[in-house]
Amino acid sequence: MPDIMASPSTGDAMPQFDAVVVGAGFAGLYQLHCLRDRLGLSVQLLEAADGVGGTWYWNRYPGARCDSESHCYSYSFSKELEQEWEWSERYPRQPEILRYLNHVADRFDLRRSIRFKARVTGAEYDAGANLWRVTVESGETLSARFLITAVGCLSTANVAKIPGLETFEGKWHHTGQWPHEGVNFSGQRVGVIGTGSTAIQAIPVIAEQAAQLTVFQRTPNYSVPARNGPLTPEFQRYLKDNYAEIRRKMRESVNGFDFFISERSALEASEAERQALFEEAWERGGLRFRATFKDILLDKAANDTAADFIRAKIRSIVKDPVTAAKLSDIDHPYAAKRPPIDTNYFETYNRDNVSLVDVRAAPIERITPRGLKTTGGEYALDTIVFATGFDAMTGPLLRMNVTGRDGCRLKDIWSAGPRTYLGLQVPGFPNLFTITGPGSPSVLCNMPVAIEQHVEFITDCIAYMRTHRLSTVEATSEATEKWAAQVNEAANVTLLPQAKHSWYLGANIPGKPRVFMPYAGGMARYRRICEDVAARQYEGLALGA
Ligand SMILES: Cc1cc2nc3c(=O)[nH]c(=O)nc-3n(C[C@H](O)[C@H](O)[C@H](O)COP(=O)(O)OP(=O)(O)OC[C@H]3O[C@@H](n4cnc5c(N)ncnc54)[C@H](O)[C@@H]3O)c2cc1C
Ligand SMILES: NC(=O)c1ccc[n+]([C@@H]2O[C@H](COP(=O)([O-])OP(=O)(O)OC[C@H]3O[C@@H](n4cnc5c(N)ncnc54)[C@H](OP(=O)(O)O)[C@@H]3O)[C@@H](O)[C@H]2O)c1
Repeated sequence: MPDIMASPSTGDAMPQFDAVVVGAGFAGLYQLHCLRDRLGLSVQLLEAADGVGGTWYWNRYPGARCDSESHCYSYSFSKELEQEWEWSERYPRQPEILRYLNHVADRFDLRRSIRFKARVTGAEYDAGANLWRVTVESGETLSARFLITAVGCLSTANVAKIPGLETFEGKWHHTGQWPHEGVNFSGQRVGVIGTGSTAIQAIPVIAEQAAQLTVFQRTPNYSVPARNGPLTPEFQRYLKDNYAEIRRKMRESVNGFDFFISERSALEASEAERQALFEEAWERGGLRFRATFKDILLDKAANDTAADFIRAKIRSIVKDPVTAAKLSDIDHPYAAKRPPIDTNYFETYNRDNVSLVDVRAAPIERITPRGLKTTGGEYALDTIVFATGFDAMTGPLLRMNVTGRDGCRLKDIWSAGPRTYLGLQVPGFPNLFTITGPGSPSVLCNMPVAIEQHVEFITDCIAYMRTHRLSTVEATSEATEKWAAQVNEAANVTLLPQAKHSWYLGANIPGKPRVFMPYAGGMARYRRICEDVAARQYEGLALGA
């Protein structure tokens, strides 16, 4: 039996590394630290970019910042890191988060195990040798006993396929692949396609620079003010003194934040009480708005009270009634799509240089050399910004061309939608772990919390294998089927599947199977399930010698 913890070897049957980790965002960096520095394994991390940061490396568009509050959007594994790092704002901007992740990479000496500009283009399991052969873009192949993907849920940019883009004489950019040198919009006629979280952050900032901004909206969206601002020294002190308690709450909450969802029903409160509580939440700002009542995401009538409150706010902010109607004519329950938060989003439509085009009423026909043509007219543009989102969750995994036992391809077995055990493993793919994979809470949670939980589960599982001299771990088909049913069930008790155009369902990508991908049962419940699985010697995972 080969020793899974063998040091790097050049022999055919022995892998070069104990583990290859793919991706150097929040997830990959922590996974590398755990395997290399806690378990003492040989680890190679492969990253497509030329730096660390993941999301915060790629998304450099104007206005890019976190929607999670800074003190929640950080690692909890190091008390020293918590004490030495100081966040400047309630919601940190992209450069600040990127600085934080660079600091983590330096502080834990991670760079020496990372290979940058190394996009993984293939990964094949060799059953005879029990190892993964991982191919990078250059053609080189590395071998490892474990393959751990930390490729992110939102890392594959989706440039909407609109005919004629190649003929456009201006410039165009996708927000998730933003030029590092920035984009100067001064004097420009700019078109933004999309009104998701990204566009809602970018539009107010672009509007301040551009001569003219035209927003092409297909689906109107709810948004709640972020109420951003600098953190006071008193709050900074409070954080440092109370991190243990803050982290405890985050771990026990449904969405990985340091607050709990109210225990009150929106339908039991009187109209006056409800309005007062929504008003208070609107003034406080941020993602906590959806926690105002316990049934906002569970009961359509309760949801309507929140949705109506926000629609009324939109109509009160936006002065032109036609524009206000287009923005507030929202067709899905509040928070059934990821709810954006903003700084002056709706206010921006009161500017003279901003206009809104409803491309559901008059669909986009094509991009022309001079701009964009809808069935209602042609719009002259110098720059087009695609804020059209991502091939979320499965996109980055499928692009790696992963092949498991007996030549079985992930692409084929997921052709009707992803199926995993706990979002962590796939039957037929031994020793492959997928951090924040489909079927785990991931994007429904403040992600550093979901990431740390997955990384620690994987690390503990590998440590267990080492102790028991085991060399393969693979989800059983039976456990995977049962988990798929639980994922469906959890989604169906919420209103989440009712937003038919949501990327949670894969609906933003033409031809993608419509399957609700994240686990909607809550992070706290999911954590308990995983703890239980581990306590039962990794029940549902077949462990082999
Ligand atoms: C604009 C934006 C804002 C967000 N804001 C929040 C927020 O406020 N709160 C929150 O909880 N979450 C937020 N998210 C979600 C965010 O993605 C996560 O919080 C977190 O950063 C994910 O970390 P990760 O390491 O899992 O993945 P990522 O940060 O996406 O990193 C994945 C890395 O894998 C690399 N990679 C992918 N495929 C390959 C390959 N084949 N070969 C080599 N490398 C590869 C990528 O280049 C990337 O660097 C936001 C997402 C976006 C897009
Ligand atoms: N700070 C933050 O926390 C933050 C910021 C940005 C992003 N994010 C994360 O990233 C996720 C993705 O956000 P995103 O805004 O980048 O993407 P998104 O939510 O998928 O929004 C994409 C937008 O583009 C539109 N669109 C897509 N294809 C189109 C087409 N062919 N024609 C016209 N419109 C088209 C979509 O319309 P339809 O709705 O009709 O499809 C939608 O309005 C978020 O949900 C969130 O999880 C977080």
